[in-house]
Amino acid sequence: MARLIGGLGTSHVPSIAVALDRGLADTPDWKPFFDGYIPAKAWMARKKPDIAIVIYNDHGNSFFLDRVPTLALGVADSYRPIDEGWGPRAIPPIPGAADFAWHLADRMVERHFDPLICRELEVDHGMQVPLELFYGLPQAWPVRTVPILVNTIQYPIPTPQRLWALGAVLREAIESWPGDETVVILGTGGLSHQLQGARAGFINRAADHDWLENIGPHPERYRDMTREQYVETFGSEGAELIMWLAMRAAMNPKVRTVMTHYHAPASMTGAGMVVLENEEEPA
Ligand code: DHB
Ligand code: FE
Repeated sequence: MARLIGGLGTSHVPSIAVALDRGLADTPDWKPFFDGYIPAKAWMARKKPDIAIVIYNDHGNSFFLDRVPTLALGVADSYRPIDEGWGPRAIPPIPGAADFAWHLADRMVERHFDPLICRELEVDHGMQVPLELFYGLPQAWPVRTVPILVNTIQYPIPTPQRLWALGAVLREAIESWPGDETVVILGTGGLSHQLQGARAGFINRAADHDWLENIGPHPERYRDMTREQYVETFGSEGAELIMWLAMRAAMNPKVRTVMTHYHAPASMTGAGMVVLENEEEPA
């Protein structure tokens, strides 16, 4: 049995990668944002998980709007960072935990989640940025990953309740895996932002703070919201937050909120992070 040692949530704003590549992390605009991740990087360096399951959405980079899987799963040994238009990035390919990913594929199909299975996948900022926020820019990534892609780009997106149910399957896959690896789950995206339409630029700081405070102790509030309520509360792109629910649902009912960080705006987004650990369950 593998062991889930933490649930992490983070924004994945693409300009974070650009700021890192251009050496802007210590400038007045960016320093308060990056400084908030120092304790999370220390947490990761201390815990050294073997596998990171990363739940994220592609943004029209690997899958354009002509073919959008509602749910997809990477089962490759390695994932190339995709060029999103700023030029190829000098970051190493991201190792994949193909063995565990195939096991997860089987558990998902058994439980009637039927993902698009990707033997080959280039990953965009949705996956790149969370890894560099928690690991910095290493010569080689010290973790093997399993990408899970969720359509949060083109309606209809899946429901919060569906993402919650996916979390239970993640937990089951971890517990039924014969290896003894340690695992973290990263929920990515959000927090509030809207990049299009009449409300472009919308940020809801109060709702973002509530989210960071309550996703650990009171996740049912967010599980039970409709997709429309996500869009109203967090913005059309802020609805990416549904992906954190799969991370939270994979954990024990009781968790500790080890740390949070919030900074707004980062680009056009309320940017936030949380690290959760399981409380022991009663025997
Ligand atoms: C922005 C934020 C995102 O989460 C994203 O995927 C794309 C853009 C932004 O704030 O610019
Ligand atoms: Fe996004």
